[in-house]
Amino acid sequence: MEDIQNYEKAGQIACKVLEYGKTLIKKDAFLLEVTKKIEAKIFELGAKPAFPVQISMNDIAAHYCAILDDKTTFNDQLVSLDVGVHVDGYIGDNAYTVDLSGKNKELVEASRKALNNAIKIIQIGTSLAEIGKTIGETIEGYGFKPVKNLSGHGLDEYDIHSPPTIPNYDTKDETKLEKGQVIAIEPFATNGVGLIHEKGLPNVFSITDIKPVRIKFIRQILNKINEYNGLPFTKRWLTKEFSLSKISLALNQFKQLGILKEYPPLVEKSNGLVSQAEHSLLIDEKVKILTKSE
Ligand code: CO
Repeated sequence: MEDIQNYEKAGQIACKVLEYGKTLIKKDAFLLEVTKKIEAKIFELGAKPAFPVQISMNDIAAHYCAILDDKTTFNDQLVSLDVGVHVDGYIGDNAYTVDLSGKNKELVEASRKALNNAIKIIQIGTSLAEIGKTIGETIEGYGFKPVKNLSGHGLDEYDIHSPPTIPNYDTKDETKLEKGQVIAIEPFATNGVGLIHEKGLPNVFSITDIKPVRIKFIRQILNKINEYNGLPFTKRWLTKEFSLSKISLALNQFKQLGILKEYPPLVEKSNGLVSQAEHSLLIDEKVKILTKSE
């Protein structure tokens, strides 16, 4: 039962942080400053980030994280804020898109409606294909496309992407949801072709395995990263204790050892605009939206 309570707590904090973050995304605000404030709020409310706060704009669907000396300001972008927090490893994950130009209302509505429609049909035994079909058809009903190679996911202790994969279109996958599962549903809608690819330099990483490291400062950096328990991190977090040059050397070493996973920005292939909506759910006799405000 303790795990359910932690999931509930993480969900509520994730929701509050997302609400707070939304209010900061305004014309002329600095992306880096907003990111830092949102991350600070996670700690203030008694949780830790499950991954670095991600603010992806326009044709970037996901995995954009402010760099150390990021000068980006908000003006008229389509801005997706993705916030994941954890309480003792139990994760709450949610996302929201802010339309600063006011010209993409329908695109924002398409992913939000797809999420809501999926939640309406979800219960114990719902198939992944049914969820995907509902999401895909809802988005197509608005004249847009679901991003097919992005999907929702299971949430597990210190594991942000555990099975099952929750598709955003009808994959014919007859795997059924089971009681006790915690999942994140995240439809992405686009006015592009509906596919993303990796593009640009990664600023989100995770360590996937344990390997011995001989050089002292690299070992110290690895020890620090291990405090994240395998969850993703960004270089910016490490600069509180280490110089950027040492961090870069360490990451190169981890890459050579084959224990570094990189998460480059995911950009829509035809540079279409992308909106996102996301909630975390507990599958039970009565399905609970963990990231819905109480
Ligand atoms: Co997610």
